[in-house]
Amino acid sequence: MRPLALTTVLLSLAGTAAPQAIQFDQGRKIWLLKTAENSYAMGLDAQSQLQHLYWAGPLWRIDDIPAATVKSDISSFDPHQMIENEEFPGWGGVRYYETALKVTRADGNRDLVLHYASHHIDGDQLDITLKDIRDDIRAVLHYRVYPAAGIIARWSTIENHTPKAITLESAQSATWYAPPGDGYRLSYLSGRWAAETQLNQEPIHEGMKVLESRLGHTGHNLNPWFAIDKDADEEHGGVYFGALAWSGNWRITVEQTPYRQVRVTGGFNTFDFSYPLPPGESLVTPTFYAGFASHGFGQASRLLHNLEREDIAPGHPNSRVRPVLYNSWEATTFDVNEEGQKALADKAAKLGVELFVMDDGWFGKRNTDNAGLGDWFVNPQKFPHGLGALIKHVNDLGMDFGLWFEPEMVNPDSDLYRAHPDWVMNFPGRPRSELRNQLVLNVARDDVKEYMFKALDKMVSENNIRYIKWDMNRTFGEPGWPEAAPAEQRTLWVKYVWNLYDIMARLREKHPKLEIESCSGGGGRVDLGVLRYVDEYWPSDNTEAFDRLRIQEGYSQGYAAEFMSAWVTDVPNMNSRSTPLQYRFLVAMQGALGIGANLNKWTDEDVQLATKMIALDKRIRDTVQRGDLYRLLSPRTNDTTANEFVSKDASEAVLFAFRHSQQYSTTPPVIRLRGLNPAVVYKLESIDGKLVDTQTEMSGAYLMQNGLNLKLVNDYDSTAVVLKRLP
Ligand code: DGJ
Repeated sequence: MRPLALTTVLLSLAGTAAPQAIQFDQGRKIWLLKTAENSYAMGLDAQSQLQHLYWAGPLWRIDDIPAATVKSDISSFDPHQMIENEEFPGWGGVRYYETALKVTRADGNRDLVLHYASHHIDGDQLDITLKDIRDDIRAVLHYRVYPAAGIIARWSTIENHTPKAITLESAQSATWYAPPGDGYRLSYLSGRWAAETQLNQEPIHEGMKVLESRLGHTGHNLNPWFAIDKDADEEHGGVYFGALAWSGNWRITVEQTPYRQVRVTGGFNTFDFSYPLPPGESLVTPTFYAGFASHGFGQASRLLHNLEREDIAPGHPNSRVRPVLYNSWEATTFDVNEEGQKALADKAAKLGVELFVMDDGWFGKRNTDNAGLGDWFVNPQKFPHGLGALIKHVNDLGMDFGLWFEPEMVNPDSDLYRAHPDWVMNFPGRPRSELRNQLVLNVARDDVKEYMFKALDKMVSENNIRYIKWDMNRTFGEPGWPEAAPAEQRTLWVKYVWNLYDIMARLREKHPKLEIESCSGGGGRVDLGVLRYVDEYWPSDNTEAFDRLRIQEGYSQGYAAEFMSAWVTDVPNMNSRSTPLQYRFLVAMQGALGIGANLNKWTDEDVQLATKMIALDKRIRDTVQRGDLYRLLSPRTNDTTANEFVSKDASEAVLFAFRHSQQYSTTPPVIRLRGLNPAVVYKLESIDGKLVDTQTEMSGAYLMQNGLNLKLVNDYDSTAVVLKRLP
C-alpha cells in the first residue's frame, strides 16, 4: 500500500491544523512562505517594487526579516535597479540583466516597469499581481507552497488589459535568488543521445550560464534541472535546487552579477520566441519548482522525488507500483509478428513479467525506419488477426499489453503524408530536413491534434491496451506554420506542447486505466511537465549497464526511481561491453524493472537467474519505488558504486553495490548505510553471499556508523543486501 503523504501524517500526529504556510505582514509589506525544510520571503520597497528578501532554512518569525529598501545608485553605470533583487523584473528603465518579462507594444514602445498592484492568499497559494507603471499590462506571480515537501512552485500569467495587442518576447516563470555572495557552484545535467543526464559541476563566475533546449522537445543535451551550493555533499550543506516543468523549448539562466547577486531565471526559451497577446488575452508560463535543502544533494533529490510521487505524477496517491515489463525492441527491432511476439510473451510470462510491450514495427508499412509513421493501423501481413489474438494471448498469460506509438511523426513514405503534406512543420519553398527519414507533424495545429487523438483513441478503444510507449525520435526542423498569420507563427513552439499535453490528458481521462511512458529516443523528454501525464520515463536508449550507472545517477538528482524504466538487455551491448546478467539486473532494479533482451537466446541458466531476480524485484520494489534514495558511492568518483533505498517508515532497506574493475587487489570501501532507524535491529539478507560480515542482525546505529563489508572482487561484480527491521 502507498504510504500516506507526509502532510497527512504530520497533521494527524499533531491533531491540529497545519501552521499557516503563507504569512503576510501588512505593516511592512512582507510575505513569508514556509515549508518544513525552508522559508522564502519577499517584500515591497517604497517604490512598490517587489524584492526578494530571503530563501534558506526554515524561519518562524516574520518580524526577523528586514523590510525591502530602495538601494542607492553606485554610479551612473551602476543604478540601484541593477543591484536590487527584483522578484519578477520587467525589461524597462535601466535593467540590463536577465529580466522575466519583455514586451513590445503595437506602436513599438518596449518599456515595462512592474510595480505591485494587489495580492490574494488562498490556502497554500499566493498570487501577487504586478502592473506596468503606465499601461494595464499585468504579471500575476503564482506561488504554490508544498509545506511538507519543502518545495515552492512558481509560474506566472501575463495579461494584456490594454486596448491594443502586445507581443511578448520573453515570458519567464520565475526569478530565484541565492543569498548574495561568491564561491557558488552550479550542478546541472547534460549529455547527448545514449549518454543523457550526466552530472556536471562547475564554479559560478561573473557572467551568465545558459541551460536550454532550442530543439522543440526537452532534449538529450541539457535537462531542465539545476542545483546551486557552496560546499555541500550528498548529506551535508545547503543546496538550492529546481526543475522546470516544460517539454518544449525551455531556458534556465544562472547569472552572477558584479554586485554578488546570484540569479536564476527560467521559463519559455526566449530563442525564436514571439507571442502576440491581443487585448483581454493572457499567457500562462510553465511551472518552475524549487527548494532549499539543508542536508545536501541527497536531501534535495528526496524532496523532489516526494513531490513528484505525491503531487505531480498521475494517479497519486493510488497509482500502482510499476510492474515488471518486457519490451520487444532490442530483441526484434522492426521484425515483429504475431507468432514471434506470442513466443516472446510465453517466455516473459514464465519469468514473472507483468506487462508485455510490443515496440516499433506493428503498423502501416513499417519494416524499417523508412516508412509507416503516421499510419496507425495494424499491418495485416504481420498481424493477420489484428492485434486481438496477440493481446488475448498476452492477457491469458496474466500480463497486461502495451504498444509503441510515435504519434508526433510522419514518414514521407506514408499514407498520412501523401494525404496531408501540409501537416508537417515547414517553411514553404524551403527544404524539409529529414532525420531518421521522418518529419515532425505540426502538433500546434488543432486538426493535427485531433487526428492524433482519434488515431490513438481508436487503437486503445478497440484493443485492450493498458500502456502506451509514446516515442519521439527527432528534434524539430524548419519550424514554420505557414497557415497561421505571420505574427502567430512562432507560437508553434508553445502550442505544440500544450496540444501534446492535451492529447495525453484526454486519452487518460477517456481510458482511466491507461498508462503512458514518455520516451524520446531515450531521455529526450524527461521533465516535470510531461510527468503530469505519464507513468514512466525512458531515460536512455543506452541500456549498457555500466554506462547506465552514471546516467541513472544524474537522472536521480531530479527524478524518482519509480518513473525510471530500466531494462536488462543482451550483451555485448553499447561500447561492445559485456557485463554479467546479475549486474545488469541489479542496475535495472534501481528503477522500474524491465527486460529488453531476446529471450529466445537465453540459456536455462539465464532463465533461472532472471526468474530469481524478478521475484526479488517484486519483494523490494515498494521500497525502491516509493522509498528514499541515498546515493552512497558515486560511479563518477569511485570504482565502487552504491545506492540504498529505505522505506518511508525505515522498516526495510535495500543496498545495491557494484564494482567496476578493482586494481591491485584492493578491497572495496566499507559501505556506511543511511536513513535507517538507529534504535532498531535489522535482519540482513545477502542475495548472493557476498557479505563479508558474519552477523546477520545489526542495529541501525551500527550499520550507519560502521557499515558493511562486501566481497566485490571481479570486474563488473555486483551484489545487493536486503535489510528488514526485526519486530
Ligand atoms: C527509440 C526508443 O528509445 C527505442 O526504445 C525504440 O522504441 C525505438 N525508438 C523504436 O523505433
